[in-house]
Amino acid sequence: MSNVRSLLDDLKVLEVDGLSAVTSVRDARELESVRIEYLGRKDGKISLILRHLGEVPAEERPKVGAEANRVKTVVQEALEAREADLSTPSGASAMDVDDLTLPGRSPWPGARHPVTQVIDEIWEIFKGLGFTRARGPEAETEWYNFVALNTPLDHPAADEQDTLYLKGSRLLRSHTSPVQVRTMEAHEPPIRIIVPGMVYRRDTYDATHTPAFAQLEGLAVDEGITFVDFKATLAEFARRFWGPGTKVRFRPSFFPFTEPSAEVDVKRMLTRKDGTRVESDWIEIMGAGMVDPAVLDAVGYDSERYTGFAFGMGPARIAMLKYGIGDIRTFFENDVRFLRQFAKP
Ligand code: DAH
Repeated sequence: MSNVRSLLDDLKVLEVDGLSAVTSVRDARELESVRIEYLGRKDGKISLILRHLGEVPAEERPKVGAEANRVKTVVQEALEAREADLSTPSGASAMDVDDLTLPGRSPWPGARHPVTQVIDEIWEIFKGLGFTRARGPEAETEWYNFVALNTPLDHPAADEQDTLYLKGSRLLRSHTSPVQVRTMEAHEPPIRIIVPGMVYRRDTYDATHTPAFAQLEGLAVDEGITFVDFKATLAEFARRFWGPGTKVRFRPSFFPFTEPSAEVDVKRMLTRKDGTRVESDWIEIMGAGMVDPAVLDAVGYDSERYTGFAFGMGPARIAMLKYGIGDIRTFFENDVRFLRQFAKP
């Protein structure tokens, strides 16, 4: 004689076993045999339990019957859910399998920074014109950064408002021009150098200024260098960099270390999307001039015998023009999505 307790316990066990049997089913055929095993009308496990219903006192039967119905529904719903799962190819079971035909993910090896690429391009052109490469320290003295360059210390550029001073009377170089002085001190003419390097100023960080930025300096000193050599060399550079149709203009200007001084502008030939050619506006690309005799005197050169020209430009500014970039800060933020666009294969 079965009592109510043992029948209810049997139904609990059946519920747990049934659900676990449903989850381990792998195809429609196994699903059908689980259905028959648990829910089969004649010999299903639930039916077998309910066969003992008659042995239970009449007033308890509804309780056992209700519980049997609940378990039946639970198992039935689990079977239906599993059936839907098996018939969906993108279901969890399909996702569990690795797709061995997927191509591998290759790591990005990196590329040269766009400003470095522009520096290299400019350097290649001047190398072809007989220049060599030079460098100097970023922590400088007032002598090299200002005084030897004919810039008195009460000049606004030497003011603490503009220049970052270190301990003692050292400072972070505010331009690459001190390398002119260092190179001339160490070598006799003829001199033809290109000096790329970082420089530092107390500038606000905005779309056109960063407190650290690249400059590229040039210096040529020899016997018999004239204003014609100066103009021809820089015009040749501009045409090799921007193309043969480029126009070059020298505007009178002032720098303490050159006399006369000029600002060099270019007017580029641009190609529109439809293939037609248009001229750009004039844009300034560098400061330049004939080396001031006072600078030659400061390094002990004979300023009666030697002459020269010098120039300085900002490669980031040139990269902005070349690539149509509006904000110089993008060069410093190291966003790989930005930098990747300039990667050369
Ligand atoms: N040193 C100048 C600056 O930082 C740029 C410059 C102008 C360099 C004229 C030169 C030059 O060599 O001749 O603004």
